[in-house]
Amino acid sequence: MSVTTHDLRSFKQERRRFVMLTAYDHPTASILDAAGVPVLLVGDSVGNTVLGYDSTLPVTMEEMLHHTKAVVRGARNALVVADMPFGSYQASVEDGVRNAARFIKEAGAGAVKLEGAQIHLAEALTRAGIPVMGHVGLTPQSVHEMGGYRVQGRSAEAARRLQDDALALEKAGAFALVIEGVPADVGADLTTALSIPTIGIGAGPGTDGQVLVINDLVGLGEGPPPRFVKAYADLRGEIERAVRAFARDVELGTFPDEDHSYR
Ligand code: KIV
Repeated sequence: MSVTTHDLRSFKQERRRFVMLTAYDHPTASILDAAGVPVLLVGDSVGNTVLGYDSTLPVTMEEMLHHTKAVVRGARNALVVADMPFGSYQASVEDGVRNAARFIKEAGAGAVKLEGAQIHLAEALTRAGIPVMGHVGLTPQSVHEMGGYRVQGRSAEAARRLQDDALALEKAGAFALVIEGVPADVGADLTTALSIPTIGIGAGPGTDGQVLVINDLVGLGEGPPPRFVKAYADLRGEIERAVRAFARDVELGTFPDEDHSYR
């Protein structure tokens, strides 16, 4: 049985902490699914992590659909959430509903995620039967408006605005809320104020769930990771070691050997 949005609500009621991880391709999706990760987010972070853009802004609907389809094919149990890319929902509610429906209909996603206080769109999606996950705090698609990737909700006034947005998204029908880049007490307060589950990234330990970008978690990123990331592996180092060992074997003529050749 696949994980549903209702299961996430039960996790909150049972005070059971859970994880969400980003996935952008079929093998990663199937590994994470087999490891029991309940929610896979096809994040628009694919722009930075996989496609080599320097922000999420250039990511297109076609790129997101392509990656979402691959993840859906690898996920047997996990709920797959597709991130709506910049430009796919900001112009009008109609645009947003049409594009969100493509993720469900063409790619087979179970839900979509959108950034910011898109209350009317969240209502319209809920009415259309498309489960929607909100995302508040540091919202990378608004990098220009925020003046950089800065921690949000630091003043009492900013924290209150965040809470208003979060409650409005819940009222509009959002089934869960990502809270990114806020002080830990703000993450905890939002979690207490909401009846839907919160999923934090750089939002402290007080949220119902935690999400990380898979490349950061397994040490595939370039350069030092942000403060909120804990790398549980060094795959970049592992891959480099494996590739160097292969090249050395080829140079020495020790690969392919008898065992790896046909007779
Ligand atoms: O695109 C993404 O990976 C995200 C997560 C960081 C929540 O939005």
